[in-house]
This record gives sequence, structure tokens and C-alpha cells, in this order.
Amino acid sequence: MQLISTGIKGLDELLGGGFPKGKSILVVGSPGSGKTTLLMQFLRVGAIADEPGLYVAMDEPPEQVKLNLSSFGWSFEELERNGKLLFLDATSLKKVVGTKVADHSFLEENIGSEFKMTVKSLIRTIMKIVSEENIQRIAVDPITSLMLRYGNVYRRRRAMLMFFDALSRSGCTSLISTELRTNILKRRFQLEEFLSQGVILLHSLVHAGNVVRAIQIEKMRGIPHDTQFRPYQITVNGIEVFPRDRVFS
Ligand SMILES: Nc1ncnc2c1ncn2[C@@H]1O[C@H](COP(=O)(O)OP(=O)(O)OP(=O)(O)O)[C@@H](O)[C@H]1O
Ligand SMILES: [Mg+2]
Repeated sequence: MQLISTGIKGLDELLGGGFPKGKSILVVGSPGSGKTTLLMQFLRVGAIADEPGLYVAMDEPPEQVKLNLSSFGWSFEELERNGKLLFLDATSLKKVVGTKVADHSFLEENIGSEFKMTVKSLIRTIMKIVSEENIQRIAVDPITSLMLRYGNVYRRRRAMLMFFDALSRSGCTSLISTELRTNILKRRFQLEEFLSQGVILLHSLVHAGNVVRAIQIEKMRGIPHDTQFRPYQITVNGIEVFPRDRVFS
């Protein structure tokens, strides 16, 4: 299996080299754990190395996401201008919108004067951008928003299956973030964890009275990987993992 560098200092070491190329990896974490930072770091390092990336903004519009990341010394403009980094605003998937959208329109259902974005049209748009812009890395942040759209459990499952199948067909290496709402040790496994080739957990643990950020590779099909909790930090340079340190000593 071909591996590609994650762009996260220390993380390649836990994976024996990097992410499996062309596969989908789920990043599970609580609010503020660094999901968006990790996804963007992965895209940015790829973009700099001439592997164009697509960020699919599901929750907050791209401008807001960039603003949130402004405390890191990362500039996206040049990468965007050179077609190495693309942002897709998919926030309207959560709601019905009545305004027209510029190019890459995924508003297919015309309901009176209003348009509705669907999961199918989002998939079509992603696939179109991937082939037209030679995209190699995708970040979907977070997939939770897609799920919230469906009250019906079967429709939700079908949408999720369709979405992961499309990511797999795209040939890109994809990172998909998902929000953790309960205690990590008590959580129920979600469908998206079974549909992904790999699952990475980001959590905050309390150890000896201190809060420690810890990362764990829960699964990575086809790769012998580290399984321990390892400490990580978020600094002005983004996420750094300490692959040889232990959280519990
Ligand atoms: N320059 C910085 N130096 C150190 N830590 C930072 C810096 N910028 C942000 N952080 C930390 O990173 C966290 C935000 O990370 P990020 O937005 O990637 O998390 P997230 O898991 O995507 O959160 P959400 O669930 O809200 O989307 C902040 O809560 C803050 O603790
Ligand atoms: Mg985020």
C-alpha cells in the first residue's frame, strides 16, 4: 500500500509512514480538539508539495474557516490563486436557500422560487471539481452536518453510504471530521467509522490533575500502526504529535 505524508509533525511515525493513499480516514474529536486544524494542515502541506486539495466546508463558510485559522501563520491566498487549494461552500446543505450560487452550482431541485442542495448534487460537484482541478486530497469538515439533514435513519444511512462511496471512487486521500458529543470511552460506534479505512481520535484527558491532549489511531486497515494514546499540542505552527511519549506514565 502506498503511503502519503500526513503533514502533521510526529503523526507519520505512528502510521509507519503516513496515510494510505486514496483512502478515507475519519478524524473524531470533541469541540476545539483541533479537527479543522489537522485537516487544513494536511491539505496545506499537500498543496505546497503540488498535490491540489479541496476543502469542503459543511458547517461554517470558507471565509469564516479561514478567519478561525488566522492565528496560525498560514496564508492560503497564493495556494488558492495557483489552484493548489480550493474551498467549496457546502453550508447550504443544512438548509434550503433561495439565492443563486456562482459556478459549481449544486442547487438542483427547484422548489418554487427556492433551490435546495442535496447530497447527490454535492457529490456531483465534488467529483466534477476533483476531475477538473486534478484534486488529490479532500477534507470534509464536519460530516456531522450531513447527518443532521435527515431525520429518517434509513435516508441518513443511504446518504452516508453514497457519500463515502463517492469519496472512495474519487481516488483522493480524504479526511472526514466528525464531532464527538459523548465521553470517548462510552461512545457508540457510528456508521461512518465502519465506512472509513481509518479512524483517528483526538481527545482531552485528565492526568494527574492536568488536561492533556491525546491522539490515538483507532484503526488503519492494511497498516501496522501505533495504538497508544500519544500527546499532541496545538501551537502557532499547527498540530504536533509526540510519537514516543506516553500520556499515562
Ligand atoms: N495559534 C494557536 N496556538 C495554540 N493553540 C491554538 C492556536 N490557534 C488555535 N489554537 C487551539 O486550537 C483550537 C481550535 O482548533 P480547531 O478549530 O481545529 O478545533 P475543532 O476540533 O475543529 O473545533 P470545532 O469542533 O469547534 O470545529 C482552539 O480551541 C485553540 O485551543
Ligand atoms: Mg472545526
